[in-house]
Amino acid sequence: MEFNITYKLSYVALICLLFLSPPFVSSQLNYKFYDSSCPNLSKIVQQGVRSAIANDSRIAASLLRLHFHDCFVNGCDASILLDDSSTLKGEKNALPNKDSARGYEVIDNIKLALEEACPCTVSCTDILTLAAASAVYFSGGPYWPVPLGRRDGLTASIDAANNDMPSPFESLDNIAAKFTAKGLDLKDVVVLSGAHTIGLAQCFTFKTRLFNFSESGKPDPVLDRSLLIKLQRVCPNQADSDTTLSPLDPVTSTKFDNIYFKRLVNKSGLLQSDQLLMGDNRTAPMVISYSRFPNLFNKDFRESMVKMANIGVLTGRTGQIRRNCRVVN
Ligand code: HEM
Ligand SMILES: *[C@@H]1O[C@H](CO)[C@@H](O)[C@H](O)[C@H]1NC(C)=O
Ligand SMILES: *[C@@H]1O[C@H](CO)[C@@H](O)[C@H](O)[C@H]1NC(C)=O
Ligand SMILES: *[C@@H]1O[C@H](CO)[C@@H](O)[C@H](O)[C@H]1NC(C)=O
Ligand SMILES: *[C@@H]1O[C@H](CO)[C@@H](O)[C@H](O)[C@H]1NC(C)=O
Ligand SMILES: *[C@@H]1O[C@H](CO)[C@@H](O)[C@H](O)[C@H]1NC(C)=O
Repeated sequence: MEFNITYKLSYVALICLLFLSPPFVSSQLNYKFYDSSCPNLSKIVQQGVRSAIANDSRIAASLLRLHFHDCFVNGCDASILLDDSSTLKGEKNALPNKDSARGYEVIDNIKLALEEACPCTVSCTDILTLAAASAVYFSGGPYWPVPLGRRDGLTASIDAANNDMPSPFESLDNIAAKFTAKGLDLKDVVVLSGAHTIGLAQCFTFKTRLFNFSESGKPDPVLDRSLLIKLQRVCPNQADSDTTLSPLDPVTSTKFDNIYFKRLVNKSGLLQSDQLLMGDNRTAPMVISYSRFPNLFNKDFRESMVKMANIGVLTGRTGQIRRNCRVVN
């Protein structure tokens, strides 16, 4: 399987040598970017995401998160997809990604299908952006058209991945600063955190809340009592439970809805960084309105996703169209 993919991709690379770069490349993202060069693009991405979800219901969440981790580190440039090599230290082993980020094979498979349909045309970062949007849609969330034309980066940065990704243990001010550094605001923090309506988290990402919050020797007081007891059973106070998984939204962990926000109002957020949104008078009113108005959440989520997918994009003649998403051409 592994060998097969490598073989197919090197074959694709050969074919790409026959293609010249197009005479004009737009320097702005737009909805029609691949309309003539790859008319079946969205169909192919959707098919890839649909079959991946049929095989693994968690993968929708994983693809959405992978796109976030791409865009927050040197912009949306598919840097997260690069494997380590002798000349490049990738981001896959950065703390927020190692044994945590997933979905790489799904992007490989979609890329393979696209190299057959329209070789050397679609960037890996556009594939990831489209896959994240499809993942939300197939999970019952909003649909939005995705502006396209991003190009793939030539580098990756493990340091930027470690420094720029927000951690679940940080204060809201720190997290907000990391968003602001990318051109996003406090509203984007709240609405994009709503992505935690799907997917899973490992116990170590919230365990201090259960036993020794802020070195108090006690659980986090802002955690619903009955949820606390349940979580203490799932994640006992021993290192061997660190990688045990728990749903971010246990009511509907594969359905994209606004129950995440209802749970924050109920003191039932899983991560400290989730629950903090309810503990600050700048963000709590937004949490409450998203908990009441699912359509408002869907609309604002769409808008913030398009904003996030614009961070530091390479267009025009910068970057490249990678042939294999795991290596620079
Ligand atoms: C606001 C700051 C954020 C923090 C501190 C944060 C932190 C985390 C953590 C700790 C996990 C669990 C990882 C693990 O246990 O391996 C997680 C999972 C996840 N995050 Fe976030 N996140 C944030 C924002 C976002 C954003 C903006 C998105 C997407 C728009 C997102 C989407 C997800 C998804 C979908 C999962 C589940 C992934 C899966 O099941 O594979 N998160 N996040
Ligand atoms: C698009 O896909 C359809 C089948 O799904 C195929 O018949 C058609 O040839 C494809 N078009 C292009 C331009 O690849
Ligand atoms: C199905 O999902 C599992 C778990 O994520 C993964 O290991 C496996 O490679 C997937 N199989 C296919 C054919 O995608
Ligand atoms: C809580 O954590 C602090 C710092 O790691 C430690 O000094 C303290 O002993 C812990 N308390 C309990 C009850 O585990
Ligand atoms: C929030 O708490 C209220 C009152 O305890 C309960 O009726 C409701 O079902 C809870 N909602 C969620 C999403 O857990
Ligand atoms: C928000 O809380 C801070 C500190 O708790 C307080 O000083 C401020 O007046 C509050 N602002 C609003 C709008 O309630």
